[in-house]
Amino acid sequence: MGMDGFEMKADYGQFMDLKEGWVDRRIFTRDDIYEQELYKIFARSWLFVAHESQLPKNGDFLTTHMGEDGVIVSRGHDGKVRVFLNSCPHRGNKVCFADAGNARRFVCNYHGWSFDGKGELQGVHEEYCYDPGDLDKSKNGLKQVAKIDSYKGLIFATFDNEAVSLGEWLGDFRWYLDCLLDNEDGGTEFMPGCIKSEINANWKFGVENFIGDALHAGWTHDSGTRAMNGGEPFPPVDMANSYHASVNGHGWEFGLEGVGDIFLLGRPKVMEYYNDIRPDMAKRLGEARSKVFGSVASASIFPNVSFLPGISTFRQWQPKGPWKFELKTWVIVNKNMPDEIKSEVTKGVMQTFGPGGAFEMDDGENWENCTTVNRGVVTRHEKLHYRCGINRRVNDHPTFPGILYQGQYNDANQRNFYERWADMMGAERMADMPERYKSVMSGRETRDITGVKAV
Ligand code: FES
Ligand SMILES: [Fe+2]
Repeated sequence: MGMDGFEMKADYGQFMDLKEGWVDRRIFTRDDIYEQELYKIFARSWLFVAHESQLPKNGDFLTTHMGEDGVIVSRGHDGKVRVFLNSCPHRGNKVCFADAGNARRFVCNYHGWSFDGKGELQGVHEEYCYDPGDLDKSKNGLKQVAKIDSYKGLIFATFDNEAVSLGEWLGDFRWYLDCLLDNEDGGTEFMPGCIKSEINANWKFGVENFIGDALHAGWTHDSGTRAMNGGEPFPPVDMANSYHASVNGHGWEFGLEGVGDIFLLGRPKVMEYYNDIRPDMAKRLGEARSKVFGSVASASIFPNVSFLPGISTFRQWQPKGPWKFELKTWVIVNKNMPDEIKSEVTKGVMQTFGPGGAFEMDDGENWENCTTVNRGVVTRHEKLHYRCGINRRVNDHPTFPGILYQGQYNDANQRNFYERWADMMGAERMADMPERYKSVMSGRETRDITGVKAV
């Protein structure tokens, strides 16, 4: 038995009761739970590593993290994308210090071992000092991840050999993802550059905020919204025509008014662009999804990616210990957007979400306080309330797939995120995970959602 009456082989279900609607504060602050998250969640999930548009040419690479493990995502000179550890097999040093670029070789600073774009060991300094049999170059390349795949521009990788396919991992959530990734012929791209900031908070607070916390927007962001919206507050939510939808721990909360988020930018040209393409979007994705797109909405992909489909911020919460994460943000746009609109969208994102954005600062402060306060030795034993909308489950909706709840003011997606978290934390093998939802997509989609392809 460890501290706080918690055993390492614990049933993680003890940290929440989602039928009652509460979560234990210790999941946000304990370092032994965090250590288990790195093994059970981050080393076994499909993790977002790059957008294809960030690696257009052979030799292009970027560095990122999978959990706390540093990796290089590299488009080799054969055109294939690979992901391998950014750690030299000799003594472990980083072999690449740049965020992104184009390279022929990754050369280690320490003793000069060099690796090609496939991660294979090519050359070593003073090679004569190794006697025959000392060094098998073919066995000393950079450690490759177990699997890589992509869905409509987003590249994912996993360290887990036994992982289900990416298509199965995303499941029916692809139906929603297509509102973002496939609303127009050309697909999407990231605008150049990535903004990184550090926030002293547990990574799950960022994810759960974007997965379903529409409720905070009108309160936390009231002054920012008024400043950008001619003094007007956040519009009231139409509880009858808005939802939380969740699949496999991923979640999307949304209204159906079509242009809700875009007004926040105060950028009429962007709104005009979306209104112009909306009829085609309706033909492409169906009427319902053309209304989901651009409505007041927010979403997260389990475990650590979030985005706002209207505002076009795309972000990843990279864990750095239980009390800290690095937030990486990009701007996602349709490739075929006129340049003028892309730049309007980019300005809108910077104005709202980014270290200097009016909304980002409001959120960061709240999450930091939630994390710090929950560390108190007495405080940590109190439960947190996640019961909002618990009786508003909608069964067998003819249009919207997923575990569906009515009203975007709801804690439903957050509850489902933590249920997935507890299922994964508790499962010795992924095959032991309980089935929480069965796909309803067969014969239903208006657009192919099977776009997974090996990159
Ligand atoms: S640690 Fe990389 S060459 Fe020695
Ligand atoms: Fe917020």
